[in-house]
Amino acid sequence: AEKIIIDTDPGQDDALAILLALGSPEIEVLGIVAAAGNVPLSLTNVNIRKICELAGRPDVKVFAGCSQPLTGPLVTAEHVHGATGLDGADLPDPVMPLQERHGVDFIVETLMSEPAGTVTVCTLGPLTNLGKALTKAPEIAGRIKQVVLMGGGCFEGGNITPAAEFNIYVDPQAAAVVFGSGAPIVMMPLDVTHRTLTTRARVEAIRAIGGHFAEVLVGWLDYFERFDVAKYGSEGGPLHDPNVIAYLLKPELYSGRLCNVEIETESELTKGMTVVDWWGVSGRPKNAMFMRDVDADGFYALLTERLSWLAHA
Ligand code: BDR
Ligand code: CA
Repeated sequence: AEKIIIDTDPGQDDALAILLALGSPEIEVLGIVAAAGNVPLSLTNVNIRKICELAGRPDVKVFAGCSQPLTGPLVTAEHVHGATGLDGADLPDPVMPLQERHGVDFIVETLMSEPAGTVTVCTLGPLTNLGKALTKAPEIAGRIKQVVLMGGGCFEGGNITPAAEFNIYVDPQAAAVVFGSGAPIVMMPLDVTHRTLTTRARVEAIRAIGGHFAEVLVGWLDYFERFDVAKYGSEGGPLHDPNVIAYLLKPELYSGRLCNVEIETESELTKGMTVVDWWGVSGRPKNAMFMRDVDADGFYALLTERLSWLAHA
């Protein structure tokens, strides 16, 4: 099985990504690290444990990471995800414990103790924890199999500012550390995630899984979608984070190009922008696989299949 660390700020779409991973036998989740992002760390660490318990996996190791970006105050997104970060369905308070170790130490120690090139780091939120880990222990860069991240955009623009996608915008300094680290990077940007829309038919296919589990998923999807329908004027909203896990399971669903990608950290106007050299005009080293397209029906077929496996496990 592919060994992964998930770093995440749930978030309804983060929740579906975690469930997709836990429902897939090809993947072994070594641990889940909470990031501050959509809502503060005090909520995301609880949300992760609620999601694990929903999946029937109270054994998963959950760690708290950093509560603030590397520099500057935290920007959150309650306007998208609700006050809890997981509005749309009520889940019981978790019983499973939060691990005592700091999430950044867990990332460093896992990458140092597992054989080099065997652990994939999946980030579904701001890059604070991974950026901090790489700053503390730069030697981990060469041991990471790959970083697969949801973040950034190019032709699609931004979603928190005209230039920036939320996850990169919240901690551009951390993103700059990650993109400059030399670790292999695969990006799932808005260019991809704006194609995986939660259309009625796709949500109904998830509802058909049945039971309380499916009601929870549909509650989240309906909540999360409501905002985006108004914003994007399309049927359904973008389902971002599960693309990271779907890529691990079926990379053939995605197409893109190895590019140079740099992070704007200074400009007030474009802070958090991913400057993607799609056309290769800069001569700068290619440091990230920038995905641009996805087989959206294939993505939803995979997601629905795995959620159904998890529901009936
Ligand atoms: C990203 O921001 C969050 O709101 C979502 O969970 C996703 O990770 C999309 O820009
Ligand atoms: Ca997220």
